[in-house]
Amino acid sequence: MPELKQRIARQFSRAATMYDRFADIQADIAFDALSLLPGCDGTLLDIGCGTSRYAKQLLSKCSHMLGVDLAYGMLSQARDSVSNADWICADAEDLPLAAQSVNGVFSSMALQWCSSAEQAMLECARVMRPGARGTLAIMSAGSFTELHKCRQMIDGQLLGNRFFDSQHWHSAAEKAGLRTASHTRAYTSWHPDILSLLNSIRHIGASTLTQTDHRPLNRRSLLRLEHEYEQHFAKNGRLPLTYNVTFLQVIKNHE
Ligand SMILES: C[S@@+](CC[C@H](N)C(=O)[O-])C[C@H]1O[C@@H](n2cnc3c(N)ncnc32)[C@H](O)[C@@H]1O
Repeated sequence: MPELKQRIARQFSRAATMYDRFADIQADIAFDALSLLPGCDGTLLDIGCGTSRYAKQLLSKCSHMLGVDLAYGMLSQARDSVSNADWICADAEDLPLAAQSVNGVFSSMALQWCSSAEQAMLECARVMRPGARGTLAIMSAGSFTELHKCRQMIDGQLLGNRFFDSQHWHSAAEKAGLRTASHTRAYTSWHPDILSLLNSIRHIGASTLTQTDHRPLNRRSLLRLEHEYEQHFAKNGRLPLTYNVTFLQVIKNHE
């Protein structure tokens, strides 16, 4: 596995026991995505399932559930709490599943970790049976803009990962043979200070930097970051963090 993927898997595995306690906004997004997911007969694949705390809702929409995740630690949590599903530790960009083997797909807040949207969508389309449907919620461009802008103000650097835009995901899905409808929605979490804001990312295991040109923040830059954040974005003494989420609703074309 490439070094970057190993780092991503390690961070999420380490955070797995705390994930459900800290991932409030991820829960809101997953439940919004679930409300869009059509039911299916047969196997429903959850890509990047994490701890699968919404397994009950997924199981109510299919007869068999299969969770795939890069992080073994996440899958252990999922396996401990859900007995009537199957779990595979694997990469969304290289699924160890036969072509046309699943009847539906779901994913929430995982696919943005893929290096190539095209490869992720090709793999998703390959394993879907013709006519299979799915809902994919993906963090996209416009996410964490407050952090990016403040970091640029202090030293011209970017802080945090950059994301593909929703059009990029939409056309990757269509090119892979998926009929696609998409919309984007912003979610905001609010924090009392910059440390708690940064910890909201770190505590769920999502702080792996995917670009190599990042310089880490020292204490001085952290104080400046907090100052800029307060100046430009604070409301009622609280700091916002925006998640811009693209919801793709996909149907695998009949050949
Ligand atoms: C923010 S969590 C979301 C978990 C769950 N879907 C939820 O909504 O609570 C992101 C998950 O994606 C997984 N992930 C990241 N990159 C992945 C990849 N390339 N293939 C499969 N899973 C991946 C991580 O290990 C992590 O469990």
